[in-house]
Amino acid sequence: MATATAPAGLTTTKAPFIEAAQAKGELYITQPYELYSEDNHEAWRRLYDRMAPRWEQYANPHFLKGIENLSLDAKRVPRLEDVNKFMAPLTGFRAKAVSGYVPAYLFFDCLRNREFATTVTIRDRATLDYRPEPDIFHDIAGHVPMHTDKAFAEALVRFGQAAKTAADLVAGIKDEKERVRRVISIQKALARFFWFTIEFGLMRGPGGKGIKAYGSGLLSSFGEIEHCIESPIVQRYPVQLEWVVNQYFEIDKYQPLLFIVDSFDHLFDLVGQLEQWMKEGKLDNVSPGEPELSETDVKSFLDAGARA
Ligand SMILES: [Fe+2]
Repeated sequence: MATATAPAGLTTTKAPFIEAAQAKGELYITQPYELYSEDNHEAWRRLYDRMAPRWEQYANPHFLKGIENLSLDAKRVPRLEDVNKFMAPLTGFRAKAVSGYVPAYLFFDCLRNREFATTVTIRDRATLDYRPEPDIFHDIAGHVPMHTDKAFAEALVRFGQAAKTAADLVAGIKDEKERVRRVISIQKALARFFWFTIEFGLMRGPGGKGIKAYGSGLLSSFGEIEHCIESPIVQRYPVQLEWVVNQYFEIDKYQPLLFIVDSFDHLFDLVGQLEQWMKEGKLDNVSPGEPELSETDVKSFLDAGARA
């Protein structure tokens, strides 16, 4: 039970510190570690404990190695500075605390600079499977172990560069209506690529045998990590770029369609191809539909291009 002296906590959607930072317009913050309540640490512990055996079974070996390399704390919410101490020497990547949603361009541009915008709040202990928005378990236990892998890290940086290419490209379009139309189409393609690879990607297992999860949305979901590999109703196909960039997705259900890469070198090459297609105009007319882009996201790309 909460007492008068207990910290307010950093529970997702119920964290006064975060609300205050947002109200002040502070996007990049320092992780206020002392504010985590015992309930918050307990939520981390439970999430970690139940994922651990599923990671052993379903996660790709690079992720398992990453968990080991980070010496991730299974018992308490990790301090980002501790995570960075282990991660930065391996790939240069650092987790960077944020107060909430990061507009698309800024998020991708962080990747280009080997920074990972990291949510510091944690989901409510009472509803471990319900995640209204990203939390520290998704970001640190789902994403960050992958960032310790050199080939994966290079693919992420390359993706950040592709986002910059997009902003620069559309900045050269004189007609404003056409500029907005094109940036929306290209951004949709980028968002879909990110979704079907970084967030929900599957990879061939060692020696080309079996399938393992490397997408963070899968690696941080107790239910979906099993479902994505075992369920007969999930469609799993070798990745095809022309399909991915035109495929809509919905965020609030287990994914019915997933794509498989051979390796992270393969993923890196796909990002290169994506950027090439962008330059050739092949992403200017991708199919409509999800994801819908917010005005803030679109503006973040247009502003970045205008600054260049
Ligand atoms: Fe994510």
